[in-house]
Amino acid sequence: MNKNNQIRVWDLFVRVFHWSLLPLFFVAYLTGEEKGPLHRYVGYAVLGLVASRIVWGFCGTRHALFSDFICSPAKALTYLKELVTGKPTHYAGHNPAAAWMIFFFLANSILVCLTGYAAYAAKGKNPSLGFGITFSIVESAYADDDGKREHKGKREHHGGNLESDREDDDDRDSVWSDIHEMSAQFMLFLIGLHIIGVAVSSRKHNENLVRSMITGNKDMYL
Ligand code: HEM
Ligand code: HEM
Repeated sequence: MNKNNQIRVWDLFVRVFHWSLLPLFFVAYLTGEEKGPLHRYVGYAVLGLVASRIVWGFCGTRHALFSDFICSPAKALTYLKELVTGKPTHYAGHNPAAAWMIFFFLANSILVCLTGYAAYAAKGKNPSLGFGITFSIVESAYADDDGKREHKGKREHHGGNLESDREDDDDRDSVWSDIHEMSAQFMLFLIGLHIIGVAVSSRKHNENLVRSMITGNKDMYL
């Protein structure tokens, strides 16, 4: 087989997005139990990255576009079967299984960050970005402007969750905390599958997908 030229598959944006998301996710994951603002800020950075990747999915370069890799679940299953049993079809961009993994990644990252935001607000704190930016559902529930706010009334309604006043706001748990934790664990599960998928796919296609995600290029065979 003749190893021909290399083609550019991942633009700079996709690569910077990917290799920034990785450490940010783990810093967010590992600081989940800390009381300081780091966890929140890193979480917002993840949300910002994911939001910008979604925009790039509509206006980026060829293989970054969602239209380049969106496919039916049946196509993803066929690819997985081929991976296990025979010779899987080669794709220059994301393969169909990777495509579904990416959609789950993006959707679940948003869920983790928004439920983190809601969990923080439900603890009676102000989850603002620190620059006076606060979103209205939270703004209306509190009386003043410092990190730990006082409730205006005895019972407040936060995005569907009834919270009553308690002595210690930090101990206040909500359904958002539970969903936040579950979705963060699910993210870890997805990452495990992702790494296995990358390893198996690289082996079957005899190509180095990790290197491609660093250099942006793939070897194309004629
Ligand atoms: C050591 C760990 C990791 C390695 C080696 C790795 C490797 C890769 C590779 C090779 C691809 C391209 C896959 C393909 O299309 O077949 C990819 C894509 C992707 N990975 Fe990872 N990854 C890692 C960790 C992560 C983590 C922690 C996340 C999320 C928190 C993540 C999210 C993504 C996403 C969203 C894409 C799609 C990129 C895009 O199109 O923008 N990866 N990864
Ligand atoms: C990728 C982003 C994020 C990840 C991976 C993540 C992960 C985690 C993890 C693993 C925990 C520990 C859960 C436990 O064992 O009790 C946690 C807790 C928490 N996170 Fe996040 N988080 C993210 C984003 C955010 C954001 C953006 C906010 C707020 C704006 C936030 C607010 C919180 C709060 C308030 C808790 C404590 C929940 C409780 O114990 O009730 N997180 N997070």
